[in-house]
Amino acid sequence: MTDKLWGGRFTAKAAKWVDTFGASISFDQQMAKEDLTASIAHVKMLGAQAIIPKADAATIEAGLKTLMTQLENGELHFTVENEDIHLNMESLLTDLIGPVAGKLHTARSRNDQVATDFHLWLKNRLPEIMAAISNLQTVLVEKAEENAGTIMPGYTHMQHAQPITYGHYLLAYFEMLQRDYERFEFNQKHTDMLPLGAAALAGTTFPIDREAVAESLDFDAVYHNSLDAVSDRDFALEFLSNAAILMQHLSRLAEELILWCTYEFNYIEMADTFATGSSIMPQKKNADFAELVRGKTGRVYGALMGLLTTMKSLPLAYNKDMQEDKEPVFDAYTTILGSLHIFTGMLESITVHKERMHDATVSDFSNATELADYLATKGVPFRQAHGIVGQLVLHGIQTHQSLQDMPLSELQAAAPQIEADVYTELTSEAAVNRRTSLGGTAVANVEKEVARAKGIIASH
Ligand code: ARG
Repeated sequence: MTDKLWGGRFTAKAAKWVDTFGASISFDQQMAKEDLTASIAHVKMLGAQAIIPKADAATIEAGLKTLMTQLENGELHFTVENEDIHLNMESLLTDLIGPVAGKLHTARSRNDQVATDFHLWLKNRLPEIMAAISNLQTVLVEKAEENAGTIMPGYTHMQHAQPITYGHYLLAYFEMLQRDYERFEFNQKHTDMLPLGAAALAGTTFPIDREAVAESLDFDAVYHNSLDAVSDRDFALEFLSNAAILMQHLSRLAEELILWCTYEFNYIEMADTFATGSSIMPQKKNADFAELVRGKTGRVYGALMGLLTTMKSLPLAYNKDMQEDKEPVFDAYTTILGSLHIFTGMLESITVHKERMHDATVSDFSNATELADYLATKGVPFRQAHGIVGQLVLHGIQTHQSLQDMPLSELQAAAPQIEADVYTELTSEAAVNRRTSLGGTAVANVEKEVARAKGIIASH
């Protein structure tokens, strides 16, 4: 028999480097608090159900609470010989209260224990992620309100398309983040479930009370199939998938902010506190933090792909492969929380070059659709109007004039339906403000949507 907690049927001891390879303590100690919390709930139930003597349950509970205090004071030391957080805690408890500690593991396996700890860990952190999304949304809405009338080019294919407002642009990200928020909110449903009581895989012969444990751990529901309880990592995959989609959104925003900081665009400027310089080029001011978030998107996608691949084809029930589930989730959690915080501060402190944005909409022919729409309202079939305006654009390019700078006679030569009132419709302001269709970019719409967005945030 070796000195491992499971060493009864073993005669030989593994080398330290083998233990180290198999151990998860280096990372699963992040679930130390959850492990103790779950053990306390479990032992209370064992006592209440008279599965172990009440006095023993009380001794174990007191011991676990002492460990909790020691954990909070940074006084606990874990070893790779004890493999993971679960065996480390049991061993520390044994050191503290003696062999009665061995009764804690009655009607429990590390398989349902690790699943429970992992569920608890994520359950405790989802609200934090949701709050961070909400904070970023608040800044987006604040800035959208300030810039409801800040006109800028809207793009398709990275080519100037039609004028929009910066406020409208920012609210697009509000909407994406709202879906992210709802995805993490839904993630709670599958996280808020108790696996404990599944034991190794098949349930237990002891008269346990799983509902009572669920209640004391504040879980909404219990797993109804013991095999599923110990094998399910959907809640972690959903988290990573939500995290990946969130990072996709942040990376798209990052990309444009980086572009807009360039000399060529010069639409915005990062605050000094959210930019960095160069060690060689004194003039540089780089949008490093936006770039870093864009870059970190890769590791979050990697986390999702990694766990999907780990879980692929795993037979029921527990397999040691599943020990690989925690690091990607821990890493993605830190990454998305950090990225959300950075974006909140960064967006808040951006200087918007309103005039430059507006100027970019003046000579770019982004009012061509206005002229086509104008002709369409005068009865010219839209397809024909499109062709006429296309020819006028070509004429403008060749003669170096914008549509709004062409004399009426030139416009009328292309389409006699055009009258002097056309010029008021060819401004960027008119282009924006005539787009009053639901979800359109008109300033009044953006203001309305700002109010709606504020209501949504208040309901979080
Ligand atoms: N450290 C393990 C993990 O993270 C705990 C469960 C181990 N169970 C087992 N039967 N080896 O998955």
